[in-house]
Amino acid sequence: MRFDGKTLLITGAGSGIGRATAIGFAARGGRVAAADVNVEQLRSLADETGAITFVSDLSQNGAADALVADAHAALGRIDVLHNNAFGLPPTLQQGRLAKVADIVDEVWNYNLQLGLTAVMQATRRVIPIMQAQGGGVIVNTASISGQFADFGIGAYNAMKAAVINFTKVTAIEYASDNIRCNCFCPGMIDTALFQKSLGIPGFADAATAAVPMGRFGKPEEMANVALFLASDLASYVTGAAFVADGGLTAQTGVPTRFRNG
Ligand SMILES: NC(=O)c1ccc[n+]([C@@H]2O[C@H](COP(=O)([O-])OP(=O)(O)OC[C@H]3O[C@@H](n4cnc5c(N)ncnc54)[C@H](O)[C@@H]3O)[C@@H](O)[C@H]2O)c1
Repeated sequence: MRFDGKTLLITGAGSGIGRATAIGFAARGGRVAAADVNVEQLRSLADETGAITFVSDLSQNGAADALVADAHAALGRIDVLHNNAFGLPPTLQQGRLAKVADIVDEVWNYNLQLGLTAVMQATRRVIPIMQAQGGGVIVNTASISGQFADFGIGAYNAMKAAVINFTKVTAIEYASDNIRCNCFCPGMIDTALFQKSLGIPGFADAATAAVPMGRFGKPEEMANVALFLASDLASYVTGAAFVADGGLTAQTGVPTRFRNG
């Protein structure tokens, strides 16, 4: 799989899945425009990969539109857009759980703006660019949390579900323009974002035990999925929601330990 002559604009590229994907794309010959809210992480990525970087807070309405325009001006073309950024609201860094009746507007709105509206705005802005180029690929980082319910993070569940279906709408509307649009649905992946959940007492052991493969995923394992979807190897894949979760959501509710012996 090579990306020689291809360009990638990726959000949330400073850490975790986004960082691994940016590194993988650059290592296979592509040029990367990396966006993140975290300046130091961007600087370190640029040192490692030669990526051009954009400091962008995608929780601000309109930032995604501006980012695509700036990256297009810098790169000359955008072959792949990977909408990946997400983080907790700055005032809620501990990731407090809240059942539906306790959802506060601030958290709900932040989830939707960063996780969904920014995805829509970047997609809306990149489509005419890709049409003019003769095609392109959009990859969205969704989640198994968009397919199934988690306890206490309803805003995140609703947002990721919307990302999955927005991916499908984009795919069917622009398939005839040679634009493919797919998302992938990570399970529990060992990143800075996921580490915040591990602070909940008992969660780490119970979560590991629930995964048939018996471990959390690595960012590089998600990057491999993203890069496949971005590549010509996925030339007939569009509108897909590719699950990569170590078997977590393939199973019934029967605890894994009774089936694995
Ligand atoms: N880690 C998991 O278990 C898991 C599971 C399913 C889906 N995901 C999704 O994967 C994606 C990447 O998350 P990750 O696990 O690699 O986490 P991460 O924290 O390692 O990376 C997320 C990146 O997004 C950036 N970011 C946060 N807020 C931003 C903002 N306002 N504007 C711009 N950038 C911002 C962060 O600085 C960070 O570099 C997210 O969409 C997340 O929802 C993660």
